[in-house]
Amino acid sequence: QDLYAVMGHPISHSKSPLIHSLFATQTGEPVEYTAIQCPLDGFADSVKTFFERGGKGLNVTVPFKEQAWNMADVLSPGARAAGAVNTLFRDDEGRLCGENTDGPGLVRDLTVNQRLDLKGARILVLGAGGAVRGIMAPLLQEQPADVVIANRTVAKAEALAELFAGEVPVTACGFRDPKDAFDLIINGTSASLQGDLPPLDSSVVGPETITYDMMYGPGLTPFNQWARDLGAERVIDGLGMLVEQAAEAFACWRGVRPETSPVMAALRDRVG
Ligand code: ATR
Repeated sequence: QDLYAVMGHPISHSKSPLIHSLFATQTGEPVEYTAIQCPLDGFADSVKTFFERGGKGLNVTVPFKEQAWNMADVLSPGARAAGAVNTLFRDDEGRLCGENTDGPGLVRDLTVNQRLDLKGARILVLGAGGAVRGIMAPLLQEQPADVVIANRTVAKAEALAELFAGEVPVTACGFRDPKDAFDLIINGTSASLQGDLPPLDSSVVGPETITYDMMYGPGLTPFNQWARDLGAERVIDGLGMLVEQAAEAFACWRGVRPETSPVMAALRDRVG
């Protein structure tokens, strides 16, 4: 068996071991995948030890993705733009390579699983932390009409808008500023962890608005419940993104892309 793991702190809630064991069974790849809780000040040592002992690849989660980015000897273009790494492996020369599959996972869930055409769409993104930075470049590749980043701390949204604005206009504002309906609203804040809802104006949700919460859980997330109450066309949670980012990582390590739909169904049964 080839050994893989996810490192984070905390890690006990991680669904990655379950997802990757389902991928391994489905593809017949000899993959063993565990969860490792690193001490907060011991991530770099844990990574070194893991690879020295013959580990083949790692996923990295909160709060170590930026440290993983700093440690990598080689960054993929996507990881470079994301400023964070969630997938590590060693190349033939022993260099530590960093990839970020979160953004590609989100876009794949939106375009393939949910069959959304993002080209020409007006997108509102909520939040301006690491999670949002990680999705911006793959989202912009889909050529939306424009992207508005709204955040509690507007300066952080402005910094991201400046970093990513190009052919597609990217602008920044506070939560209460947008007043028109968007085609797609993506919640990339961690507000719901504190039971909070970004204080948006209700006019951003129209009858054709689709919302996507990068969080997931049993039942509707508070953000998606809010959007549904306002009459959103469709509300989607982040379970598909979770499975798709894992599939991208598995493909990056093994060269085989697993089928994600049976794994999403299995997870949905457990999560609710
Ligand atoms: P992550 O890796 O999840 O992106 P992060 O980098 O700490 O974590 O970013 C968290 C994001 O959620 C930020 O946009 C943060 O807003 P600030 O930039 O103003 O801090 C947002 N956030 C966290 N708690 C929030 C709350 N209670 N209400 C609204 N936004 C919140």
